[in-house]
Amino acid sequence: MPIYSVETPARTYPVEVERGIIGKLAEYLPAGSGKTFVVTTADVWDLYGAAVRQSLEAVPHHVLLFPGGEPAKRLSAVEKLAEEMVEAGGDRTALVVAFGGGIVNDVGGFLAAIFMRGVPVIQIPTTLLAQVDAGIGGKTGVNLANGKNLLGSFHQPLAVLIDPGVLGSLPDREYRSGLYEVIKHGIIRSPKLFDLMASESEDVLARKVSAVDWMIEESVRIKTQVVSADEKENDLRRILNFGHTFGHALEAETGYSRFLHGEAVGFGMKAAVRLSRSIGMLGEEDERRIIEAIDRYGTLPSPERVSAESIVARMYADKKTLQGRIHLILPDRIGHVRIVSGLGEGLLIDAVRAAMA
Ligand SMILES: NC(=O)c1ccc[n+]([C@@H]2O[C@H](COP(=O)([O-])OP(=O)(O)OC[C@H]3O[C@@H](n4cnc5c(N)ncnc54)[C@H](O)[C@@H]3O)[C@@H](O)[C@H]2O)c1
Ligand SMILES: [Zn+2]
Repeated sequence: MPIYSVETPARTYPVEVERGIIGKLAEYLPAGSGKTFVVTTADVWDLYGAAVRQSLEAVPHHVLLFPGGEPAKRLSAVEKLAEEMVEAGGDRTALVVAFGGGIVNDVGGFLAAIFMRGVPVIQIPTTLLAQVDAGIGGKTGVNLANGKNLLGSFHQPLAVLIDPGVLGSLPDREYRSGLYEVIKHGIIRSPKLFDLMASESEDVLARKVSAVDWMIEESVRIKTQVVSADEKENDLRRILNFGHTFGHALEAETGYSRFLHGEAVGFGMKAAVRLSRSIGMLGEEDERRIIEAIDRYGTLPSPERVSAESIVARMYADKKTLQGRIHLILPDRIGHVRIVSGLGEGLLIDAVRAAMA
C-alpha cells in the first residue's frame, strides 16, 4: 500500500493508507516517548479499541474518552481532557493519538498542540471525511459560540494512519458525507478521480474495496501534495476550500444541525458550479457532469426556511472574507479551479438559489 508524505517547514511525516494499520500503531511511537494518550469516542473505541489496545500492550497508555459531536468541540472539553492527562501522569514526554472522526482529530490535535506548550500527535482518522481531509494537514481547533473552528492552531502530526477497513461500520449518511469531499478533490485536481466518482457510483456506494481504497489514496495524494506546497493556506491550500464558503454559511444558517459537513460542501459545490457557469468560466457540459455526479450520491437535506440572501449575508461574515471581499474557488474545468474575488452579491444569491432548486 502506498505511503504519502507531507513536507512542511514544521515537519515531514508519512500518511499511510493500509487496511489493518491501526493494529500497528506501536511501530509509529518514537523511541523515548512517554505515556501515550488515546483520545477517542465510545463508539469508535467499542468497535476498534481492541486492535489499538493490543498494539499498545507493551506501552504505558491511557484512554481519554471524549463525548463527540459538534456541540462538544469546545475549549472546555480540551481543558477537561488536559486535566485528565495530568491526573493520569501526562508530562512533556506525553504523546497524543487522535483516534476517531474529524471532531476527534480536531480536538485531539488541538489538545496536543497546547498541552505543556505542545506534545506530538499521531492522527488515526476513522470516518471517510477525516481520512481524506480532516486528519491530514495539521489544522486543529475547536468552535466558539460565534462560529466553527475559530480557536485553533496548526500542529502537524508525527504520522497519519489511515485504515480504510474501519469504514465498514460507518453509518451510510456519514459515509456519503465524506464522498462529497472526495468529489471535491476530483474537481479541483484530478479528472481521473472525478470520473471514478461519476461513473462508478454503484461500487463506491457499495463500499467495494478496490473503489474505496483507490478513492482514498487519490484523495490523500492530492491533499498531501497541496498541504506540502502550502502549509498555512496562503494560496494553493485555499483550493481545498472549494464548495466550503457557501457550505460553511449554509451550515451556520441551519444551526449546524441540518447538514453534515460534507453535505453542506456538496451543496456549496453546486452553488460554486452554478456561479462559475453564470460568469462564463465553466462550460455547460462540465457544469452538467458535476451536478449529476453530486446528485448521484443522494438527495441533500433541504435548507428549509433558510433564504439564499441570508446564506450570502453569512458569507460576508465568514472568517475567510478578507476586507469585505469574498474569495471563491471556482472550477474552470473538471480538475482545475481558480480563485475569484469581488463578484457581486446578486450573482452569489442567484447561484445559491440555483443550488437550492
Ligand atoms: N482540520 C481540518 O482540516 C478539517 C477538515 C474538514 C473537517 N474538519 C472537521 O471535522 C468535523 C467533522 O468530522 P466527521 O465528519 O468525521 O464527523 P465526526 O467526527 O462527528 O464523526 C461522525 C460520527 O461517526 C462516528 N464514527 C467515527 N468513525 C466511525 C467508524 N469507523 N464507524 C462507525 N462510526 C464512526 C463518530 O463517533 C461520530 O459519531 C467537523 O468538526 C469539521 O469542522 C476539520
Ligand atoms: Zn471540508
